[in-house]
Amino acid sequence: MLQMKDIVREGHPALRTVAEEVSVPPSKEDQKIAQDMMDYLKNSQDEEIAAKYDLRSGVGLAAPQIGITKQIFVVHFRDKKDRLYNYQLFNPKVISHSVEQAYLANGEGCLSVDRDVEGYVVRNARITVRAYDQNGDLQKIRLRGYPAIVFQHEIDHLQGIMFYDHISEQNPYEVPDNAKEIE
Ligand code: NI
Repeated sequence: MLQMKDIVREGHPALRTVAEEVSVPPSKEDQKIAQDMMDYLKNSQDEEIAAKYDLRSGVGLAAPQIGITKQIFVVHFRDKKDRLYNYQLFNPKVISHSVEQAYLANGEGCLSVDRDVEGYVVRNARITVRAYDQNGDLQKIRLRGYPAIVFQHEIDHLQGIMFYDHISEQNPYEVPDNAKEIE
């Protein structure tokens, strides 16, 4: 099972590399990468397992974060209406997005970043993602609010982009006119 020692941190080149597309349907090897990452997320959200193995809780993980520069990411979380977002996705593309922007009131964190970073991470409020699932089926996923933020964070990892790249340097708490806060 993946543990914190398997997650690369800031400074590792994989986090700044544009990840490569994978073959579709995903190979057994790539399916295993995604499943291992999903298992990490689930374990990290299980109080007992997380305490036993000292896992930091996460809702998303991208392959570059375990040092594999392939376009694979997974998410596992519920939105405030208790809808489950459980996806293993390959070669994702944001095919459309709103003009309106959004940011999390409490900022963002990352399993590859061992420090608190202050500031608002301004992203698109709504996106549509096209990606392949673990079976090679094409999925088109429309997202808004918190789920849209999580997906953009993970898809950024596949482009070598860190969440704090989106924070204004002059004023980390600057809010653009067309941006709304997400609790
Ligand atoms: Ni991250």
